Parts: sequence; C-alpha cells; structure tokens
Amino acid sequence: MTTHKKQVIVSGIQPTGPLHIGNYAGAVQNWLALQNDPHLDCYFFIADYHSITEDYSPEEKRQQVMNLALDLLACGIDPKKCTLFVQSDVAEHTELCWVFNTVTPVSFLERMTQFKDKSSRQAKNVNMGLFDYPVLQAADILIYKGELVPVGMDQIQHVELTRDIARFFNNKFGVFFPETKPKLTETPKLLSLTDPLKKMSKSLGEKSYIALTDTPEMIEAKLKRAMTESSGILPADTASGDEETQRGYAGAKNLLEMLRIFGSQKEADRTLATPPIKYGELKMLVAKRIAEHFAEFRKHRAELAKNPKKVRAALDQGAKKARTVAAKTMRDVRVRIGIR
Ligand code: ADP
Ligand code: TRP
Repeated sequence: MTTHKKQVIVSGIQPTGPLHIGNYAGAVQNWLALQNDPHLDCYFFIADYHSITEDYSPEEKRQQVMNLALDLLACGIDPKKCTLFVQSDVAEHTELCWVFNTVTPVSFLERMTQFKDKSSRQAKNVNMGLFDYPVLQAADILIYKGELVPVGMDQIQHVELTRDIARFFNNKFGVFFPETKPKLTETPKLLSLTDPLKKMSKSLGEKSYIALTDTPEMIEAKLKRAMTESSGILPADTASGDEETQRGYAGAKNLLEMLRIFGSQKEADRTLATPPIKYGELKMLVAKRIAEHFAEFRKHRAELAKNPKKVRAALDQGAKKARTVAAKTMRDVRVRIGIR
C-alpha cells in the first residue's frame, strides 16, 4: 500500500485581544474548512512569542492566551481534527528562527511593511524582536514543513519571505524545506468600521472591530456608528474622488461584504438592486445577521470558560504532538548545517 504524505497546513494568531470578524472571515473560516479535510495535516497555534514584540502587560498576557484559545475552540477549531497549541510551548520554533537568522539578509527584513507600520506606531519600542518577527514566522511554518498558510491579505508579504528563506536555506544546505503558499478566503481584507480605508484590526481600537464575543447590543451600537457615505448610490468606480469620498464608499461596500458573509449573497444583491441604499436599515440587518451567526459561539464559549483546566490540557496535548514533529525537523536541520 502506498501512503501519500498529507499536505501540511500551518497558521497562527497573536494573543493581542479578542478574535474579531476580520480574523474570522480572513483566516479562521479557512482553518475551519481545512481541518475537516482528512488529506490535510493542520497545525494552528497561538503566537505568544510574536505578541511580546509589541507593548504589552505581562499580567494580561496569560489571560489573553486563554481568551484566544476559548475563542478558537468555541468557533469550532477542534483539537481532534488539528494540532492546536501555544507557540512558546514548542521551543523548536525559536531554535529554527536562529538558524534562519543566519541565512536571511537584513535588507529583506527592512522591506517588511508591517515592520515599518509597527515601528512608527511604537517609536519608543523598536526592538530586535519586532524586526525579526517575520523570520520567527518562517520558522513557525517551516518547522512543520508547512506548504499552505491560511491567512489574511496583510500576511502575504510574510509568507513570501518564508518562501525566500526556504530558498536561501535549500541553496546553501541542499533541498529540505518546501515552497510555501498563502491561502486566502473570499474576504482577505475586511475593513475597519471607523476608518474603512484601513483593515479591521485590534490595533485601531475596539470601536473599529466587531469581536466574536460582542453581545447583539454591542454589535448594533458599533455598526450604527460605522462610517458610510450618504447618497445611497454606489458608482461603478468607488476608488475615485477625494479621500473622504473614497472612505465613505469603502465603508458602504464593507457593510455589503459583511451582509454577504454573515447573511447571504442574495441579501447583499437585493440591497444593491434597490437603490438608494438605506444605510440605517442595512446596518440593522447586518447587526442582526452577525449576532445570529455567533449566537451558538457565545453559548459554547461561556460553557468552555467554566473549565479552563480542560482548555489548558487540550493545548498541552497539542504541544506534545507538535513537539514530536518539530524536534525531528530540528535534528535534521542540525545535521544539514554541520553542527551535528
Ligand atoms: P489584528 O490586526 O487584528 O491584530 P492579527 O494580526 O492577529 O489581527 O491577524 C490574525 C489573522 O487574521 C491573520 O491571518 C490576519 O491576516 C487575519 N486578519 C487580520 N485582520 C484581518 C482583516 N481585517 N481582514 C481579513 N483578515 C484579517
Ligand atoms: N504574523 C501573523 C499575524 O499577525 C501571526 C503568525 C505568526 C502567523 N506566525 C505565523 C501566521 C505563522 C501564519 C503562519 O497575523
């Protein structure tokens, strides 16, 4: 009998705040679909070492890790179908990062747009970890020889760098790591409610995003204040005009996108087919659909939260599985680079 090697899927999310509908639509929806495919071997993790490159409070971090684990489990990430763990529990990620540091040109890291953004946002804390962040990400992926990485649009540059690093390593030490590709959903970039020219993100403040844990009342209140335009008529080219006009159109299109994801394509089409769009009504409909979509999630999460020990045990079990694979890669890497 020939056994085919399963394709390896790897992705992580930083524990920097609550999981929001942008993370869900851009990444986690793909995680949920991929874990159900028996031909795939999925590794999903909480990137705590990445998260300490930003200003943070050590007292809060442990709870943020637990909260993200609860969010992921409650929306259906199933430790029986994938390997779910905390990054820092598998020391080989940082070990491989060190080896990758020795093949990665500094000039490649200087190009990373996220590094530039974050450096300007936290000008007093431009630390080495922030600079090296994409190399650790490459190690996260390649320690499992990951081939497909389900992430949102903002992470594409990091996945491309992962491919470069694998190539540098393979050229120097012989072909060992695979070519990694990103996998996007139909919504790789959901936009911020408060500034729809930017992606929805935890870093833009809680009014800019809808968390999966938000109550129906909170969802409604946030959407009521979401930025749109006022004419109710969307031109074919919404990217023309001044910045304020573009921002308004982007906000309107973002609402329709949310309706498509959490309601249906039909509902979104119907809204567009009967202009002018009444934004007040559209916002209430979107709020209702999002609240409905996550009703089960909220119940399930409240149940899980009663038993943090069980959650911790599931993560420990995942780390054990991940460590076996990661340790084997590291043993082979040490031989290849000539230190064993
Ligand atoms: P945030 O910017 O809110 O801190 P993260 O950096 O933790 O988000 O992202 C976790 C995952 O969710 C990544 O795969 C990222 O690409 C994806 N993601 C984040 N924001 C969005 C968004 N607005 N639209 C689509 N995907 C997103
Ligand atoms: N940098 C990613 C983000 O901010 C998180 C991450 C860390 C990641 N390691 C990864 C994503 C490996 C995919 C694969 O969203």
